[in-house]
Amino acid sequence: MRKVLVFGGSGFVGSFICKELAKKGFDVVSVSKTGINKYLFEKEAKQIRFVKADLLADTHWQDELKNAYAVINCIGILFEQKSRGITYKKFIFESTQQIAQAAHVHDVTHFVQISAIKPPFFILRKYHFYKLASEQFLQSMPFHLCIIRPAILVAPQKPFFLFLYRLQELLHFPIKQFESLDNVAKQVLAFLK
Ligand SMILES: NC(=O)c1ccc[n+]([C@@H]2O[C@H](COP(=O)([O-])OP(=O)(O)OC[C@H]3O[C@@H](n4cnc5c(N)ncnc54)[C@H](OP(=O)(O)O)[C@@H]3O)[C@@H](O)[C@H]2O)c1
Repeated sequence: MRKVLVFGGSGFVGSFICKELAKKGFDVVSVSKTGINKYLFEKEAKQIRFVKADLLADTHWQDELKNAYAVINCIGILFEQKSRGITYKKFIFESTQQIAQAAHVHDVTHFVQISAIKPPFFILRKYHFYKLASEQFLQSMPFHLCIIRPAILVAPQKPFFLFLYRLQELLHFPIKQFESLDNVAKQVLAFLK
């Protein structure tokens, strides 16, 4: 069984990827700040090991990289909260650096980065700046690298976006700012094959 570590595996995107990987027979470990499963049914979550670790404060998560084949990085924030020290630099760029450097030390060969498409106009410019900086950093590392740049992701857990997504399908008026979460999981699986 090939071992895959999903960083941010308790989040919206990460938990879906964990579930799909487990279905395909991977040994899936989720690493996240709370270590709590928020999105999966108990039966689905049973196949995944949830590890609680704050990537920017703890180090024990690095031991989980032993014998891992691949890492999927789903850690990120959409908005900064500077008063609480929650910045794009820390939670997008530095977290990516930490994971990549530790993965390299443990001879992990495959790396999937969940990045993002360029938002329209000047929206989330700083968010996108650090997403690009993370991509560039990873491109300098010797991994088999897959960078996925999703639009706004839709799934049943986000009913409002799912409603808009279905509506645009119905009206045959595609909005490129929406994408199915299923599509992202498919790209991850295709890469790990
Ligand atoms: N959702 C979208 O529509 C969308 C679209 C394009 C790109 N993306 C990208 O996809 C990635 C995941 O997004 P998401 O919507 O799944 O976000 P999310 O639900 O907020 O998940 C974020 C994950 O990161 C973990 N995390 C945050 N800080 C951490 C830390 N210091 N140490 C360890 N774990 C930490 C969280 O753990 P806890 O839950 O335990 O706190 C959670 O598992 C992000 O990089 C985002 O930019 C998302």
